[in-house]
Formats: sequence, C-alpha cells, structure tokens
Amino acid sequence: MAGDAESMAASQRSISVSEFFAKNRHLLGFDNKRKALLTTVKEAVDNSLDACEEAGIPPEIHVSLTQVGDDRWRVSVRDNGPGILREQLPQVFGKLLYGSKFHRLKMSRGQQGIGISAAGMYGLITTGKPVRVVSRTGPDDPGCEMTLAINTNRNLPEVMSDSPASVRWERGTEVEIEMEATYAKGRLSVDEYVELTAIANPHAEIHYRPPSGPVTFSRAVDAMPADTREIKPHPHGVELGTMMRMLRETKSETVSAFLRGEFCRVSEAIASRVCRNAKVCASRAARSVKPDDAERLHSALQDAKIMSPPTDCLSPIGAEALLAGLLKGIKAEFYTAVVRPPTVYNGNPFQIEVALAWGGDIAKDEGDKAKLIRFANRVPLLHQPGSCCMHKAVTDVRWGGYGLSQTKGSLPSAPLVVLAHMASVWVPYMSEGKEAVADYDEIRKEIKLALAECGRRLARLVRRRKRRKRHQDRRDTFDRYIGEVADAVCSILPDTDNSRLLSNLRAIAKTHTQRADEQYDDHGKVIRSDDIPDTIIIDS
Ligand SMILES: Nc1ncnc2c1ncn2[C@@H]1O[C@H](COP(=O)(O)OP(=O)(O)O)[C@@H](O)[C@H]1O
Ligand SMILES: [Mg+2]
Repeated sequence: MAGDAESMAASQRSISVSEFFAKNRHLLGFDNKRKALLTTVKEAVDNSLDACEEAGIPPEIHVSLTQVGDDRWRVSVRDNGPGILREQLPQVFGKLLYGSKFHRLKMSRGQQGIGISAAGMYGLITTGKPVRVVSRTGPDDPGCEMTLAINTNRNLPEVMSDSPASVRWERGTEVEIEMEATYAKGRLSVDEYVELTAIANPHAEIHYRPPSGPVTFSRAVDAMPADTREIKPHPHGVELGTMMRMLRETKSETVSAFLRGEFCRVSEAIASRVCRNAKVCASRAARSVKPDDAERLHSALQDAKIMSPPTDCLSPIGAEALLAGLLKGIKAEFYTAVVRPPTVYNGNPFQIEVALAWGGDIAKDEGDKAKLIRFANRVPLLHQPGSCCMHKAVTDVRWGGYGLSQTKGSLPSAPLVVLAHMASVWVPYMSEGKEAVADYDEIRKEIKLALAECGRRLARLVRRRKRRKRHQDRRDTFDRYIGEVADAVCSILPDTDNSRLLSNLRAIAKTHTQRADEQYDDHGKVIRSDDIPDTIIIDS
C-alpha cells in the first residue's frame, strides 16, 4: 500500500546543509545571475577585509571580473591578508557552515561561515568548475594552490588538485570562481557595491577591474579601524534553550564558575545572588543541572540587575570618515554626521551612526525620493530595503518637521542621501543572505534618534535657504516691474525725470536686497562647518 508509514520511512533521509542551500540558493543571495555575481564579490571582499583587519594589516584588495562566455564570468578576489593554512583551505572553501566567526561575539562582516563556500558551490553547480584558491602566509611560506569542489550530498570538500603556489606576491589569499552570471551597471551592481564599500572602509585600498577598465579606490585614511575584541554573551540576551546547551557543554566545574566564566558582567556576588534566588546551589556541578533548575536559574538571571555589556568591542566608522566618504562620492551642499553612543539589544552591544547629504547635484527632478544607503559592520546592504529596520526608521521620521516634504510612511521627497550604519557583535539579519536588518525596537529607536539630530541640523539650513529664496523672489518681482512703475509715475506726474526715478528705484531695490541679506545674516550668522558639529556646508 502506498503512503503507509513503512513506505514513507523508506524515503525518509537526512538532508545535508549544502543540498538544502543548493535548492534554496535564493536564501543566500543567488536567486538570479546578476545577484549571483554581486553576492560572490561581496562574500570574497568581506572575508578579505575581515582577515586583514584581524591581522592588523591595512587591506589592499584586487577584484576583477572577466567574461569567459555567454552569461559566464570569472570572479577573482585577492587580498594581502594573513593567508589561510593549507590544511584549512578545503574546509573553508568546500564546506558550508565552516568558519571562525559563528561561535564568537565580535564585530566582523562574516558571521555564519556560509559565505564563500556557498559562492563556490554556486559556481560548481552552474559551470561544473571547482573553486581555485591560492594562499601564502608570508615570504617564507611557498604557499599552495588548490582547486576544490564541494560534495553537496555530504557537505564535504573534494580536493581536485593541490600544488605549490607559483605567485610573486608574498602574503594573502586569492579566490577565483567561475560561474553563470551577468554583469550590469547601475543600481544593485557590483560597481555600486565596490563604491559603497570604499566609502565605509576608507582604510582599504581597492583595485577594481570591471569590464569597462580598471578603477582604484585609494586609501582615504591611514588609521585602521579601532581594534574590536570578542566579548562573552550578556546574561540578559541568552535564551533558555541556549543556556541549557551551554550548561551541558561547559568545562566549568560549578554553577557559579559557569555563570562567571561564560557570560560577561557576572561577578562572584551576582552569581551567588542569582543561585540563591533560583534555589540552586552555587557549588553544584554545572553539567548536572536539571531542566527545572535551569529554568529557575535562567529566570533569576533575567531578573538580576547586571551591568550592560562592554561596548568598547565596536568600531564605528566615525563622523570624520563618514563625511570624508560622502564628500568624495556625492556632490551636495550640506553634509552632516551623527554617531550615537553604543547601546544594547538582546544582550548584544551595537552602535548606530547616520550621515546626511543634502542639495547640490543629488536630485534633478522635483519630487524625487531621498536615497537611503545602508551598512552593517561596514558592509553595504543593497537588497530588500523594504524589510530593513533602517528603512523603517527613515520612513517613521516625520521629515516635515525638518522642512522636507514627505508622504506619510515613505522616504522624504527631497534632494537627500541618508547613510545609516549599524556596528554590532551580532547583526540580526533577516536571512542568511545578509541583506536586511531585523526590526528590533532598540535598533530602530537609535536610528531615529540619530536621524532626528541630523534632521534638526538640516532644518536650520533649509529654513535659511527658504528665507533667502523668498527675499530673492520678492527682489526679482520688484526688479521686473521697476521700468513699468517709473513709466506709470511719469505719465501721472509729467515733470518727473524718468531716468533719475529709475536709478533711484534701482538704488532702493538694492538697499532693500542688502537689508534682506543682512537680516539673513543677523538671524544666524553665515553658516560654516564649525557652526554645527560634524557638518560641512558648501556655500554656493
Ligand atoms: N581571504 C581570507 N583570508 C583569511 N581567512 C579567510 C579568508 N576567507 C575566508 N577565511 C576564513 O574562512 C572562514 C569561512 O569563510 P566564510 O565561508 O565566508 O564564512 P564567514 O566569513 O561567515 O566566517 C572565515 O571564518 C575565515 O576564518
Ligand atoms: Mg564570509
């Protein structure tokens, strides 16, 4: 009989992660040929930047895109990072969910351990070609070159070839993936990703070779981002099931040692108090804690007053670098940046920074919507703006209060670019593709506070500009009719000297205009960048 338990049992088997993601490649950002190219470059560049920063090396990255056939491209990314050990290469590039970043809380671009191996798998599935990797850990290391394929049924790497490297560069990693892809310019393109990456990573030098010819984004600041460090989870963010697993796996002897050792901000005194409130003996063996006890322990931990996690583990881009980046990339009249103090969501420290560029060349057409550029841990987020917390925050703000027009619930209609960056030890992405940030209240609130400060600064300028425009319009109207006014006066009072009247009226118009300008100055002085913090105004 078909459909009974036995026949169903015959077809039940476990699914490897790589099989799962090969079928659900859209979850990883490989849903179409154009996006596949972007995702691959993004994963490789993110890894290069992460590796260089961890090793304290100013990054120098080469990205090249070569067309090798109809809808076929070869992506190559090379860095000057620490390199990868020979025995690690197969795992890193031929196994999904393998990495150094998932089990720790530290600000980095990658976190899932799924990035570059997924790109390699996509290449293999669409072209049959394995990934080619060359890596050297320094001048004394001859380095090695491998071609690697992922066995999707088993999520294990297969080494196709393994030989000494024959490259002149002395340290770093080069990844080459051939894949079915299309290259296009414009929005959501690799070009856009590289440009934005350069803005958020002014300490990196990026040599980019798209088909249209090489471009170099040179280093804009010499200082490397502040060192970020790994932190332990904060007790207020941990979930019961996770804590139970931690208890089972812990190397700590006692419950008290477990609490102090595996979480941040838990002192001896706090551990004792938590144990007392949970009615669990502090010196009891941690691995023997029963589910009921664990539950009470968890709830006592959540009720305990515990200092927020340390926040010196984050490295924001900084107002100066944000302004420098925007100035380089966008021709506007007004730039401003706000860096919020670090804070916490779900026990994870994070920090928001926002910058605005307004006016100038930004919008040509009346009614054009503002543009939002999103970053998480210095990685540009290009897709799924609608479901991103950053987008929600920008549309939540009542821009009308800052002199901009806005239809409720949408981006303001103004010549405006909004840049938002979230730095965190754990970015809550909406999916494995890392395209949008989940809408946590704490995160949205921080973004809105930063936007409001930027908005107030902008409003001062917009109001002044509007006042000046009004004066100008009145002056123009007056100028336009001066001739007719003089003629009319002369026809009523024939003795009037027309040309004298005309020059007098012009003089009055001029003093009126001057007065208008003086008035404008009186109200708030001529604005300069040092008038408002972290603000640049280009006066035309
Ligand atoms: N260019 C590189 N240089 C040094 N190490 C790398 C490089 N690329 C990847 N790695 C190592 O390989 C691991 C897996 O990379 P990846 O699959 O992209 O996952 P993730 O970046 O999320 O950890 C990284 O955690 C890192 O340890
Ligand atoms: Mg990665």
